[in-house]
Amino acid sequence: MDKFVIHGRKKLKGTVVISGAKNAALALMPATLLASGKYRLENTPDLRDISTMGKLLQMMGVDVSKNEHTLHLNTFRVNKFEAPYEQVKKMRASIYVLGPLITRYGYAKVSLPGGCAWGPRPVNLHIEGVRKLGAKIDIDRGYIIAKAKRLKAAKIAFDVSSVGATGNVMMAAVLAKGTTVLENAAMEPEIVALARFLMKMGARIDGIGTTRMEIEGVDALHPVDETMIPDRIEAGTFLIAAALTGGTVKVECCKPGHLMAILTKLEEAGAQINVGDNWITLKASRMTKAVDVTTAIYPGFPTDMQAQWITLMTIAKGSSVITDSIYFDRFKHVPELIRLGANIELNKNAAIVKGVKRLAGATVMSTDLRASASLVLAGLVAEGKTEVLRVYHLDRGYEHIEKKLQALGASIRRISGQEY
Ligand code: UD1
Repeated sequence: MDKFVIHGRKKLKGTVVISGAKNAALALMPATLLASGKYRLENTPDLRDISTMGKLLQMMGVDVSKNEHTLHLNTFRVNKFEAPYEQVKKMRASIYVLGPLITRYGYAKVSLPGGCAWGPRPVNLHIEGVRKLGAKIDIDRGYIIAKAKRLKAAKIAFDVSSVGATGNVMMAAVLAKGTTVLENAAMEPEIVALARFLMKMGARIDGIGTTRMEIEGVDALHPVDETMIPDRIEAGTFLIAAALTGGTVKVECCKPGHLMAILTKLEEAGAQINVGDNWITLKASRMTKAVDVTTAIYPGFPTDMQAQWITLMTIAKGSSVITDSIYFDRFKHVPELIRLGANIELNKNAAIVKGVKRLAGATVMSTDLRASASLVLAGLVAEGKTEVLRVYHLDRGYEHIEKKLQALGASIRRISGQEY
């Protein structure tokens, strides 16, 4: 396992190019199971989660190859309809194969994902949605076993707005007989990207980007090529890196419209923001102000930016409260930030952060993807040397983060080795 060694307090300066969105790619890749043939997915990020999804699809008979950021998939020989525990435990998004498999092949055997590093993450809405579309579902020895002839349209109102369940059920509904209505559907840009991809393949979907979608099932879809939308969480993370280090950074190849909640909060914290069609510049203020944040579904402040925001607040002037209303337990980064000198108290699903003058470098441990990002950010602003262990979590979701940070002037090195 690799580690990062960071020498902090270097102002970041320059331009960073944002990669394709991990969470869009993780939805589009399994969607290719819906129609046999060849697909080309451009701007697919080079990430461990993408390789994991690629391996899972290969196990089903999909031919997967990659040329830089272009992913080629050929779904002509799909002959296995299983997602084994060994793959699903590596990445929960593997559950996305459930909808496409059951609707296209009438059978799916998908391992239940189990817990996550920071707490429970149920998949009941995925299962219930597919069941409402007429699939017979058994849970047997840790596996979801779904069987169906042709799925039938249904009206499905999700109790909770869920990105994954919306995507999964939408993929199942596109080939079901009749018109499915999804209420309280997720509106995240990655779900919009999936819906647009499905439309390109021949699906009929109304209400994309709203909480009510109508999906008129069709008999068959066809393969297409697509370009991935930019990763809004990667963009947000680099903006916070700039704000934290007192820097000036231009984030290129992003969609500013996807980051409105983050940009508003950064401005409230004192940063100067300018946006163009596909770029954002941030000039940090001399002193970051404390700003409260509550995570919410899109277009609210994303839970995937909560950890990074806490890091920014650790050195802000004043106190702030950061509340996670999506994942109540997602605070594994807090004890590690405290090791770096942060003053944070946890109260249920809220972190109360009292800004300190400075953080001091130490050795900290990555626990999950966004927690790891928050620790790297902390290392960039801490005095002296910070070592972030187990950075494989970061490799799941940030493409070559150390190289992109180095190009902005950060002192960060990857050290490969077994012992970390
Ligand atoms: C996706 C993202 C993840 C992000 C999250 C919230 C991918 C691959 N991952 O995860 O990065 O943090 O959205 O924006 O796109 N829930 C249930 N039952 C279910 C499913 C979800 O109760 O069957 C709850 C969850 O516990 C959570 C809420 O719904 O409280 C939202 O989770 P969800 O949107 O489903 O997250 P994911 O799709 O897993």
